Amino acid sequence: MADPALVRQTGDEADAAFREDILNGLSSIPKTTPARWFYDQRGSELFEQITDLPEYYPTRTETALLTAHCAEVGKVAGPGRAVIEFGAGSAAKTPHLLKRIDPAAYVAVDISGDFLRESTAALALDFPSLPVRAVEADFTHPIELPRLAGHLPRLGFFPGSTIGNFEAAVAVDLLRSFRRSLGDGAMLLIGIDRIKDPAVLIPAYDDAAGVTAQFNLNLLTRINRELDGTMPVEAFRHLVRWNDDAARIEMHLQAARDVDFTVAGKRFSMREGETIHSENSHKYGVRDARLLLRAGGWSPCREWADADDMFSLILAEAM
Ligand code: TRP
Repeated sequence: MADPALVRQTGDEADAAFREDILNGLSSIPKTTPARWFYDQRGSELFEQITDLPEYYPTRTETALLTAHCAEVGKVAGPGRAVIEFGAGSAAKTPHLLKRIDPAAYVAVDISGDFLRESTAALALDFPSLPVRAVEADFTHPIELPRLAGHLPRLGFFPGSTIGNFEAAVAVDLLRSFRRSLGDGAMLLIGIDRIKDPAVLIPAYDDAAGVTAQFNLNLLTRINRELDGTMPVEAFRHLVRWNDDAARIEMHLQAARDVDFTVAGKRFSMREGETIHSENSHKYGVRDARLLLRAGGWSPCREWADADDMFSLILAEAM
């Protein structure tokens, strides 16, 4: 096998799931699409660009927290753990953790396989003596961890406030599923974005350069390409709003005029102004985050935030 590092747990089923999710989502009222389908190769690249935008504070803030506090994470967690990262993407934050904690193995899980292979190959070069594996999988389903992680105590790594992209009940289920796959004695290092002024939040998801708009609209391009769609991409706009009641940023794709189109042979129409709700990013207060973790089977044991209280990094242990 030329490249033993990539284990695939998606494939044909993923194509069928994409079709089913999109057709169901476009048929529901209001229209909605699950966020995981943003991350084809192009979507993953656009997301990397988002993380460098001046308005997008989370990546920069969390990276500074990791740099400052991972030595302490290493002290609390101890050496010799298998680090399992969920939704690793470019794995840009991973070295900040790995070089400070003396890990025994690293497993990166992501839905975008080719992208993941590139990032883990780069990481393996930087950590030549660390066993590194990539698992192409949707982390919302139970994951079979590679055997190298079998007998080692685990440290889950879930940065980027990805937990915020799930509704609270689903986020709790997800944390419980991590708890099950990571096992007794596991720890979890998780990044959670805070509730803050919408004047700061909205530009983070609606940047001046229009990269987040491209990221959102890329979903339509993907639907057209992979599901034989006729969605008129130029007739849609990127719409961002702060839903104060639900404490979340919402991203929508809004029809700028009446549109008719087909996807996988099915007809759909939308009126001018109607939206497809494409993403949520829930924000959490200090106590909200603790409550969420406990509900998910994790007991917080250390917490760090930046001086402006923009973002939390929390280390928790399996209950
Ligand atoms: N979890 C991150 C966040 O909510 C990443 C993210 C998901 C994101 N979808 C996005 C960032 C859309 C910008 C735009 O912030």
